[in-house]
Amino acid sequence: MKKSTEPKRYLISFDSHTTSHVFTDILIIGSGVAGLSAAIEASKHCSVLVVTKDKIDENNTVYAQGGIAVVLSENDAIAKHIKDTLDAGQGLCDTPVVKTIISEGPERVKELIEWGAVFDREDDHLVFTQEGGHHFPRIIRAKGDSTGKEIEQALIRTIKGNKNIKVFEHTFTIDIVTRDGICHGVIAWHAKKGYMVIWARRTILATGGCGQVYRETTNPDVATGDGLAMAYRAGAALQDMEFVQFHPTTLYIAGAVRFLITETVRGEGGILRNKKGERFMPWYHSQAELAPRDVVSQSILKEMQKTDHTNVYIDVRHIPKERLYARFPRIREICASFGIDIARDLIPVRPSAHYMIGGIKVDRLSRTTVGQLYACGEVACSGMHGANRLGSNSLLEGLVTGYRAGKDAGASIQKSVRKLVPYAIRESMDLSKISWLDLDDIRNSLKSLMWRDAGIERDERHLLEAGEMIEMWGSYVMDKEFSNPTGWELQNMILVSGLIVSSALKRKESRGVHHRSDYPETDNIRWKRHITVKKAKS
Ligand code: FAD
Ligand code: SIN
Repeated sequence: MKKSTEPKRYLISFDSHTTSHVFTDILIIGSGVAGLSAAIEASKHCSVLVVTKDKIDENNTVYAQGGIAVVLSENDAIAKHIKDTLDAGQGLCDTPVVKTIISEGPERVKELIEWGAVFDREDDHLVFTQEGGHHFPRIIRAKGDSTGKEIEQALIRTIKGNKNIKVFEHTFTIDIVTRDGICHGVIAWHAKKGYMVIWARRTILATGGCGQVYRETTNPDVATGDGLAMAYRAGAALQDMEFVQFHPTTLYIAGAVRFLITETVRGEGGILRNKKGERFMPWYHSQAELAPRDVVSQSILKEMQKTDHTNVYIDVRHIPKERLYARFPRIREICASFGIDIARDLIPVRPSAHYMIGGIKVDRLSRTTVGQLYACGEVACSGMHGANRLGSNSLLEGLVTGYRAGKDAGASIQKSVRKLVPYAIRESMDLSKISWLDLDDIRNSLKSLMWRDAGIERDERHLLEAGEMIEMWGSYVMDKEFSNPTGWELQNMILVSGLIVSSALKRKESRGVHHRSDYPETDNIRWKRHITVKKAKS
């Protein structure tokens, strides 16, 4: 990011004398799988406050369909899951992290089952499915295609009776409060309660991804990259921001929300066909429909271009109707609402932005480069996924890294003699409160730009064009002071988009989900390394 377009330290000016104050030992921002796992573990040590910008169960986690990849089948092995994950990551995974997360996974999932999560079984045995890039059926699921909802509900039930955990819903975190490079909490906003400084001895960011910066995305509206942006403003290092994963198969009907058609549909035998009805995946990869996601997304794009059509199709008509309906009840229902009977009709699909592989750089204990600040789940870059994430590996990562963040934050408080001491803050950001901007228009333009110029296929010309547009919009959006989430989210989306584009420009090769048509080869000599970004000191 150019020095001239670096964001100001805070999105708003504020004075701690005129805000309300809240105190907690551990503050967790976000209520998905990572945030709630962290909360449960941290609450064994001290008081915990979970702050979330919507209702507690509105997040990426709830929409997860396919399942969790975990070694619980007798014939599977931790070493095999590690190998598949490392292979998909194309040289950029952090091997010790991969080993830790995959080895701890079974214990965390068993705990989740004890907390009441019910995964699908046949004859009392868990059933396992296969997804792209996995060489073994190791994905467990709930209610066919509602895994995330089942996990989220089990976690919510578990925190409900816990006296050490409080939850603030509909509370938007604007920025992390730091002094001398150490995090002391956040400044947040609630429509009725106004601005508040939440003072915390440790803060854990679990704010999820940023799919909303793209026009086509599987992510819900809350996924605007706020945690990434606020960590960057606070001076944290971010890593691998060019690696955005595109899911190959999202329902494509004009006007419909981009509902995911889970990869397990292909795992159960679904076939991809182009406009002419031809099965095309065997032309591109030996694993055909079960090739890694980047390969499937890029192949779909090529077929759409070749046949001059807006989408391709998934064909599951050969699967017996009863099995299909029982296995994918939610997909059946959503498709039926658009007049598509999945047992009889082809399902129109195309790729869309799905998962942010990059994020806030963390160590094995989920600690960021800012003191007393942790990050876990999708907002963090733990090194688990490298240049490409295997399907169903992120719920696992959220469970394990959330647990580890909660555990380390709790334990470090117990060891520390330092008390929580609030101090006076007066931050004046020299921002204009007068704005004639049409925020929705800029948001939509940004999303279209990102989709067109920084999407599945990238090249220097388009990335430069995107960078210039983002800089121009930034020049008149970033100098304004907004008073509600619409403006703050847009500012965060502009910042995160800029980081994606500048990192994508730098990486002059193709690797994993980052595909440069002007540099189609993988360059292990120059680029088997990470790109790290950090705000220039102002
Ligand atoms: P989230 O679950 O996204 O939670 C983030 C939380 O942070 C939310 O509560 C949000 O409101 C809050 N937040 C954000 N910004 C702020 C702010 N400024 N102030 C306060 N709160 C804030 N992965 C798998 O492993 N298996 C799957 O089958 C699977 N299917 C998926 C299907 C879909 C449709 C999608 C979108 C993703 C899927 N994924 C799947 C990916 C996986 O669901 C996510 O990576 C994972 O759930 C992220 O969890 P998280 O806790 O990090 O973030
Ligand atoms: C899916 O069900 O296809 C999504 C799985 C994932 O993103 O891990």
